[in-house]
Amino acid sequence: MTKVLLTGGAGFIGSHTGLALLQTGHQVVVVDDFSNGNAEAVRRVAELAGLGPWGQAAADHWAEAGPGGSRLHLIQGDVRSPQDLDRAFAVSGGGIGAVLHFAGLKAVGESMTQPLRYWDVNVTGTVRLLEAMVRHGCQTLVFSSSATLYGTTDTVPIPETAPLQPINPYGYTKAAVERMLTDVAASAPGWRIALLRYFNPVGAHPSGRIGEDPNGLPNNLFPFLCQVAGGRRQRLDVFGGDWPTGDGTGVRDYLHVMDLAEGHGRALDVLLAEPPQLLTLNLGSGQGHSVLELVRAFETTNGLTLPYAVVGRRPGDSAVSVADPRQAERRMGWRTRRSLADICRDGWAWQSANPQGYRSNEWHPTGELIGAQQVS
Ligand code: WQD
Repeated sequence: MTKVLLTGGAGFIGSHTGLALLQTGHQVVVVDDFSNGNAEAVRRVAELAGLGPWGQAAADHWAEAGPGGSRLHLIQGDVRSPQDLDRAFAVSGGGIGAVLHFAGLKAVGESMTQPLRYWDVNVTGTVRLLEAMVRHGCQTLVFSSSATLYGTTDTVPIPETAPLQPINPYGYTKAAVERMLTDVAASAPGWRIALLRYFNPVGAHPSGRIGEDPNGLPNNLFPFLCQVAGGRRQRLDVFGGDWPTGDGTGVRDYLHVMDLAEGHGRALDVLLAEPPQLLTLNLGSGQGHSVLELVRAFETTNGLTLPYAVVGRRPGDSAVSVADPRQAERRMGWRTRRSLADICRDGWAWQSANPQGYRSNEWHPTGELIGAQQVS
């Protein structure tokens, strides 16, 4: 059992990973500024993990103290703040053995109009985190990277050795952080670092209690499609019907978010069990599906009809992006296990039970929340 710090652990990937880690016996500390995450998601993770009610505050607003023995702590904080990071590392006596770094901005389109914000949060935030890790003697890190850094490559499926040629500020920040972590790993003995390059994480926990809840208009296909199905959006616009693919629509490698969460647990196990190393792995299914194939699968799985129209291409898009996932299987015995139908079923379970996402019942434990106890 290791005490792990999840930056951005109140977000989509972070909350699902936090649940997977709790279920495999780890102790979890979440630090999140709630700019794109939600405290309610963490409260529900505690519920799904079978933890008891949240402990009482020991100190100030969202203080970190928490009763001894809590398995899950939530700290409101910004990764760019050394003070917030020190509070998170010091939670219930400290002893953080590893960090999973999810905190970051990830909307391609937004990064084109707000590049400085992306460089500040994604890159400066990681510098501050690494400085805090050194201060607190922690050298084990799993980084949430992205297939976006491959850019428009002709190599399909894409291996980890493909050239990094990002085409937007978001992708450039991910490539910059990977470079930074490579330099850090080479600078001193003892660093254990995994760079996990996600393809397209989608779906939700099968309980329907946690899922993807983007702020405002969803940038990505799957959450938009779910909101169309739920009547929150009128129609899905399919960006381009003239791509060089089977049916002319874009092809991507969709993986279930719980497969992705479990992949983080496996990467952590490998880092802790093996000598210090820098591990770079694609996390994807290795299978491509077009937009229209995903629409059809969603309709068939859930017995509904999705209104859509094929419109012009979206700037910055590529025709095909599919992982070569063999290295992840070879190095950590991980591969996706859930199907496209599982993705569609679980995504709809989340959307239909939470039409307004977490906003339907926000949780603001000001001054009350601290740590959730193991029930027994
Ligand atoms: C998928 C396909 C679109 C929306 C994203 C992010 C990045 C990364 C991977 C983590 C494409 C089409 C989309 C819509 C559509 N994740 N589409 N109508 O661009 O592959 O990458 O996930 O790092 O965050 O860039 O995902 O879901 O936006 O697009 O037709 O309303 O769906 O053209 O072919 P993308 P996406």
